[in-house]
Amino acid sequence: MNAVNTSAQSRFHSVEAATENNAVQEQVIAVFRGPHQPATDIAAKVQALETLLTQAAQEFDSISLASSLAAEDNVLFDVIARLKLNIRVFSLNTGRLHQQTLDVAPALQAKYGQTVQWFEPKADAVETYVNTKGADAFYDSTALRKECCGIRKVEPLARALQGAKAWVTGQRQAQAATRATLPVREFDADRGIEKFNPLADWSEADVWTYVRQFDVPVNKLHFEGFPSIGCEPCTRAITIGEDIRAGRWWWEDPTSKECGLHNANLKK
Ligand code: ADX
Ligand code: SF4
Repeated sequence: MNAVNTSAQSRFHSVEAATENNAVQEQVIAVFRGPHQPATDIAAKVQALETLLTQAAQEFDSISLASSLAAEDNVLFDVIARLKLNIRVFSLNTGRLHQQTLDVAPALQAKYGQTVQWFEPKADAVETYVNTKGADAFYDSTALRKECCGIRKVEPLARALQGAKAWVTGQRQAQAATRATLPVREFDADRGIEKFNPLADWSEADVWTYVRQFDVPVNKLHFEGFPSIGCEPCTRAITIGEDIRAGRWWWEDPTSKECGLHNANLKK
């Protein structure tokens, strides 16, 4: 295990140890979610969200939600399922996701009776990368990290969106410097289709107010110090005071931390 990984492990364990009992767990949640952003009145935002997704589903006969199964995407899933909108939901199983992330899909199906469609990377591309560069070569350079994301996320996304006229993401402006000017609706020039980011102006507290109000199933890792969750080897828990996306590719420059799914963010 290299130095990067060791530091991730120790941070993870310090947060995990703090979640041993419920009282402490509540404290951890409060630190990450509470004092900085008190619960908000989200009624108007929920109404705007429902209207936006309803209109998007009417405007485009082939539209999909890309879900990482994180809290934001589950909020969108809840609206789609509650309003029975004709929006397909898919998730990219990179082969490196946490078990806790995989567990969200059956939890959603149990609650809403609606499935998540999985897309997986091409086995031969993964095999070549692992055999020629190493399974965890993404720690060695940004180029090798982007190559891995390309194989495990970007290429499967292209297949998942084949034939789609629009797609929906759970991105928010507050998540990262690269997303500060994210619009609710944009044209995805890379893919030649429309792209909706309905939660663009939602805060972390808005998301969690919705989750609690509508009893939305969420990834258990959120309660262990992971506000943002990607692949297991590229995500660590954050500590108090850190940026919410500090745990993603933590060894890279925060102004360029995008995996290729949302490259337009880097051009803004
Ligand atoms: S990203 O850099 O991994 O894309 P983030 O985890 O903040 O960033 O996800 C932003 C949005 O990208 C999610 O709300 C979702 O729409 C989409 N997304 C990210 N990962 C996946 C995935 N594994 N499967 C499907 N969609 C994903
Ligand atoms: Fe590979 Fe990490 Fe990107 Fe996942 S997040 S696809 S493991 S580099």
